[in-house]
Amino acid sequence: MNKIIEFKNVSFSYSEEEEAVLQNLDLDFYEGQFTCVLGHNGSGKSTMAKLINALYIPTSGTVISYGLDTADEKNEIPIRRNIGMVFQNPDNQIVATIVEDDVAFGPENLGLPRDEIRKRVDEALKAVNMYEYRYHEPHRLSGGQKQRIAIAGVIAMKTNCIVLDEPTAMLDPKGRREVIETLLKLKNEYGISVILVTHFMDEAVKADRVVVMNDGKVCLDGTPAQVFSNASHLESMGLTVPKPLELAYQLQKNGVRINGEPLTAAEFVDGFKNYVENRG
Ligand SMILES: Nc1ncnc2c1ncn2[C@@H]1O[C@H](COP(=O)(O)OP(=O)(O)OP(=O)(O)O)[C@@H](O)[C@H]1O
Ligand SMILES: [Mg+2]
Repeated sequence: MNKIIEFKNVSFSYSEEEEAVLQNLDLDFYEGQFTCVLGHNGSGKSTMAKLINALYIPTSGTVISYGLDTADEKNEIPIRRNIGMVFQNPDNQIVATIVEDDVAFGPENLGLPRDEIRKRVDEALKAVNMYEYRYHEPHRLSGGQKQRIAIAGVIAMKTNCIVLDEPTAMLDPKGRREVIETLLKLKNEYGISVILVTHFMDEAVKADRVVVMNDGKVCLDGTPAQVFSNASHLESMGLTVPKPLELAYQLQKNGVRINGEPLTAAEFVDGFKNYVENRG
């Protein structure tokens, strides 16, 4: 698999007086993967995300994004053409008063021809299922819809990778589902690499890979099944496992052992049905 982003022995401090919030971080991200980054408050996830596209520069060590050193100022624009960022609050990311103008903002800044911009905006709005809202005012949309507009803005830039820092934090369950489904579609249909920082375990189970950060370091890294099999380790860091797995552990403590380690409701139901059918 192709490496798209490499953290090589990266440390980062916000100021000279303060302790490093990232310490000797080695972490790679790969093309076409959906990676979730988990970790307790203050573990360094947002700092790490901002180092990816040169919003921050390492205090020591190197971040290479799409083959380019983020510390070199002339790489900033090429890096941002490869990597789009979406943040937690959709209101802070909206710049225009009409949805389609908002989505066009990025491509316009790239200096693309009118026709190309039109095409990209339409495609991006269709990709996030918001095409019918193209003439609406963004400020009158729901949080989930706004966040999908922010994602469309990044899609219209045709970046190869999207980094999202808790994009669903302010959304209700439906809004969260809409955003996650959009991201999965981008990965599956367009081959876009997705790096999603989240606190929601049910989002993490959908990823190809889960990275857990603790105190500025990576402490677990693997498939969702591998990472979530470390229940007590996760708990010691103030994290939980996905609900279906937690329920399976509780049942196990009460003498009901279902097969495997269910990460989704469907897997739990299968395991439980199997238990009931094979009992006694
Ligand atoms: N602008 C800043 N100036 C100084 N210190 C900061 C700044 N932003 C974050 N920090 C500190 O850096 C550490 C890591 O913060 P960061 O925001 O990267 O964590 P996080 O994992 O994203 O947390 P959360 O889950 O709360 O979003 C924390 O100790 C935090 O207090
Ligand atoms: Mg954060």
